[in-house]
Amino acid sequence: MSIAREARIGVVGVGAMGSGIAQIAAVSGHPVIVVDTDATALARGASGLERAIQRETEKKRMDGAAAAAAIARVQWHHAFAPEALDALAGCELVIEAVVERLDAKRDLFIQLERVVSAECVLATNTSSLPVAAIAAACTHPERVLGVHFFNPAPVMALVEIVPALGTTSGVTARTRALVDSWGKTTVVASDTPGFIVNRIARPFYGEGLRLNDEGIADPATIDWAMRELGGFRMGPFELMDLIGHDVNFTVTRSIFEAFFYDPRYKPSITQQRLVDAGMLGRKTGRGFYDYREGASRPKPYEDRALGAEIFERILVMLINEAIDAVLWRVASPADIDLAVLKGVNYPKGLLAWGDAMGLDRVLTRLTALEQEYGEDRYRPSALLKRMVREGRRFT
Ligand SMILES: NC(=O)c1ccc[n+]([C@@H]2O[C@H](COP(=O)([O-])OP(=O)(O)OC[C@H]3O[C@@H](n4cnc5c(N)ncnc54)[C@H](O)[C@@H]3O)[C@@H](O)[C@H]2O)c1
Repeated sequence: MSIAREARIGVVGVGAMGSGIAQIAAVSGHPVIVVDTDATALARGASGLERAIQRETEKKRMDGAAAAAAIARVQWHHAFAPEALDALAGCELVIEAVVERLDAKRDLFIQLERVVSAECVLATNTSSLPVAAIAAACTHPERVLGVHFFNPAPVMALVEIVPALGTTSGVTARTRALVDSWGKTTVVASDTPGFIVNRIARPFYGEGLRLNDEGIADPATIDWAMRELGGFRMGPFELMDLIGHDVNFTVTRSIFEAFFYDPRYKPSITQQRLVDAGMLGRKTGRGFYDYREGASRPKPYEDRALGAEIFERILVMLINEAIDAVLWRVASPADIDLAVLKGVNYPKGLLAWGDAMGLDRVLTRLTALEQEYGEDRYRPSALLKRMVREGRRFT
């Protein structure tokens, strides 16, 4: 049975992500019940949602009556204690977007199961915790799955749907169909660290940092190469400065640890020092670049041969990561390419890019790096080797 447009949707935790998710559901026609333990967060969420929907009318994407109706469909509930969740009783789907702590999420799911019906689907927006570990707190883990939105949720098209070990295929299909009906692009990812996007995108940052650490090029030159020669919207350093080094470093470290210290995901000491120094990027005025008033941006060294070397090294690492994700059945090849197009706005899908570049060239470049450094970090995926040996392509 599908989840209908009139179905009541619950959103627990109304920070950066919860407010955007509530907006999507309300605009799509659902009555939405928002719950947070913090009254200030609720007030901020309510005014933020109203402003965001008003902006849609200014941009003529919505008329005034539809906007007012969407705003009126959201009810805001202050849960004085985490167990005060009764308002969620009639929901058919509850999406959890509270702090990224396993104990907090598990406690919440235990409380949720006491309130909601047996048919209600329980979803987590976690970025880095195993969905299975959250589901394990439940009496009915088969109705629990990950529904991973990207920030800002109303703008970013991609949503990763992550069934856990025990999730039924019906729950996955129903939830995916519902999120599709909200106009999102959904992909199905296995419950593995970083799901699709946060895993595959690691070398964009990691190899950029490495090139800088080795003195091959400075951040301005690496950013220039990735933008001008690679066609990426932003280079790795300007993007890390935007995301915030605290956030980006934490994601990298959690994936490195979750993969039992695989050297491919090794965090950078340079980035850790920025975090230690409180130079978190744009939000603190300094990161790799200086954003304080009067500061000037360093000029890149616009040498096309050097630029091509930088771009190709980062690109082959990204392509290798995408191919390895196919090998480990993280998602289908089509979903892997869709995920980077819609989740991080890469100019091409990485598997299609590998085909266009020539998988043999990707392999040659990685093998040369592996030989030069003698590090497992550069090992080509077994699937890449197999594809080259058999003369196969992804597209
Ligand atoms: N921020 C991002 O870019 C991003 C992207 C994708 C996924 N996520 C994931 O989404 C989740 C939320 O992240 P965020 O950045 O919105 O966090 P946030 O800190 O901005 O908001 C969390 C909110 O949850 C509330 N809260 C905490 N415990 C609660 C409880 N027991 N019951 C009800 N409310 C509670 C807090 O008061 C706060 O308002 C995390 O799991 C995070 O990993 C974040």
